[in-house]
Amino acid sequence: MSKLLLATNNPGKVEEIMEITHDWGVEILTPAQIGVHLEIKETGHTYAENAALKARAFAQAGRVLSMADDSGLEVDALDGKPGLYSARFSPLPGASDADRRAYLLEQLRSHARPWTACFRCVIAIVSPDGETRFAEGVCPGEIISEERGDNGFGYDPIFLLPDLGLTMAQLPMEVKNQLSHRARAVRAARQKLTEFRRN
Ligand code: IMP
Repeated sequence: MSKLLLATNNPGKVEEIMEITHDWGVEILTPAQIGVHLEIKETGHTYAENAALKARAFAQAGRVLSMADDSGLEVDALDGKPGLYSARFSPLPGASDADRRAYLLEQLRSHARPWTACFRCVIAIVSPDGETRFAEGVCPGEIISEERGDNGFGYDPIFLLPDLGLTMAQLPMEVKNQLSHRARAVRAARQKLTEFRRN
């Protein structure tokens, strides 16, 4: 069975990706399992650059095919912000997810509704010799001003899926794993994996 290292130290992402890939016939490894400990700075100017930086570093350190993702929230009224900077979108030092949600809502207050938005995720798969493939997933929705739901993380409580009438934080994990940006990107990455195996 071929092996794929998840190039992330985020246990939430590991859990999500493990569930999505459980029937792929691929042995999924975590950095801890193979004794690789790396903290990669996200210095790229695009999601793809950041994802590739992480996947490349882990692929070299572990000598195994590695997959990393980078993601963010893009709000149309803010010209795509916070985007690449979603994790750092607050002027407060040591800001929490709740602080970032409050800051986003403050930025949106003067804009007309609906506040359409999307989550975007780009995955990079990199082999130990540097061969690289990308996959992308997008989940469209809308920002709402009141928080709903306790699941998920980040902007989930204010990200509404209009067709379902529920926020991302109101979805059980199995449902989020069907339709989230990360789930879509991971499923798109499956095809890319087969391209590596043919080479
Ligand atoms: P990264 O991909 O770990 O760099 O995540 C970037 C940031 O985007 C996170 O810290 C969150 O603020 C936001 N984000 C990414 N994916 C999600 C999600 O599934 N739900 C809520 N927020 C997310």
